[in-house]
Amino acid sequence: MDNAETNIIADNISIQDVIGQILEDGLAEDPIHVLNLDDVVKKHTVWMQQFPRVKPFYAIKCNDTRALVETLEALGTGFDCASKGEIDKVLALGVSPNRIIFAQPAKPIAALLHAKKRGIKLMTFDGKHELDKIKNHYPEADLVLRFRYDSDQVFAQLGRKFGCDPGPEALALLKYAKELQLNVVGLCFHIGSGGNDWGSFEGAIKVSRDLFDAAKVIGYDLTLLDIGGGFPGAKPIPIDPYAEHINRAIEKYFSHHEHVKFIAEPGRYYATSAVTVITHVQSKRMLSEEKGKELIYYYINDGIFGSFYSAGHENQPVYPVLWKPNKNSKLLSWIWGPSCDGLDVFCKDINLPELDIGDVILFENAGAYSIVIANQFNGFPLPRVKVYVTQSTWKALKKAPEGISR
Ligand SMILES: Cc1ncc(COP(=O)(O)O)c(C=O)c1O
Repeated sequence: MDNAETNIIADNISIQDVIGQILEDGLAEDPIHVLNLDDVVKKHTVWMQQFPRVKPFYAIKCNDTRALVETLEALGTGFDCASKGEIDKVLALGVSPNRIIFAQPAKPIAALLHAKKRGIKLMTFDGKHELDKIKNHYPEADLVLRFRYDSDQVFAQLGRKFGCDPGPEALALLKYAKELQLNVVGLCFHIGSGGNDWGSFEGAIKVSRDLFDAAKVIGYDLTLLDIGGGFPGAKPIPIDPYAEHINRAIEKYFSHHEHVKFIAEPGRYYATSAVTVITHVQSKRMLSEEKGKELIYYYINDGIFGSFYSAGHENQPVYPVLWKPNKNSKLLSWIWGPSCDGLDVFCKDINLPELDIGDVILFENAGAYSIVIANQFNGFPLPRVKVYVTQSTWKALKKAPEGISR
């Protein structure tokens, strides 16, 4: 968890102004993540307006920078934790255990025992062996069955790894849990990440309703539906169509289930647009006549071992913006990271005006699955986080439901 200090800025200072000030000090060796807490607060306001019935449990795996997590804690969200380490990070902020879901269907026994010791009751499962383990080590836990419902429009599929089939397999698991006298309280799914697919949420909510009915026959009156993550977080993509379809599906399939609570596990929704990364060109090379075209390679101080793992491995889009746009004619360009790895390239075949060594490239919408994954392969420094919040947002956070502590 990055403990970067929070800079409180006047309300009329923009993030562009902040970046200008940072660059006045000269180029840094390390990439800089400018984290804008105002953006996180705005995102939360939109979520609450759009999803009045769905409480967000922020997936801390997406970006665990302390200031971001503290902001969400102050705003009163819950948290999705997938490991002992994530649980500890959230509890260390004073979050009550009942605001945490241990959303990891394949838990190490040590983590299960840790959850028990720390009073975290809500957790997911998707298989018989996990139920046996829970029976042996934490039979009082409140269990959420994760079923598989994949979107085919996402760039990060999760269903191949986790989630039982929602048909006979789910029923067999519910029956087995009943035999073990375990306390199943709800269902969850995750359609996958990074698409524009509100339709899959609707489909998964419909399947959930069928499973709620089947569970009742088995003897479980379920009270929780967790609709997972997968909501877009890049500016300017709106979540309105998601809200429209999800709220409608909740209304349609759960209108006679007032006792059912709805939660979600958004990660990238909260983190993506909050971060702009400042990088610069360290080297460049012209490849003449590559397949009949001119191609230029730029080597910058950030790459797949820094902020861009997801761009390199999951085709997550990146958004390069030139700090000082120039009018040179555009050239076909690739952007490489600084390491010696031949896979360390995260932006291919884009048209950019020709850049010089030292030119600054900003990457907007870079807060999700970036800093959390960064490592120091090849001896290059980790990205450095600088946190900013305007005075008025800071004051509001102090007065927020849980209040910010510093
Ligand atoms: C169980 C679970 N919940 C939530 C998330 C967050 O997904 P997203 O960042 O797309 O909202 C993930 C991402 O991997 C996940 O595995």
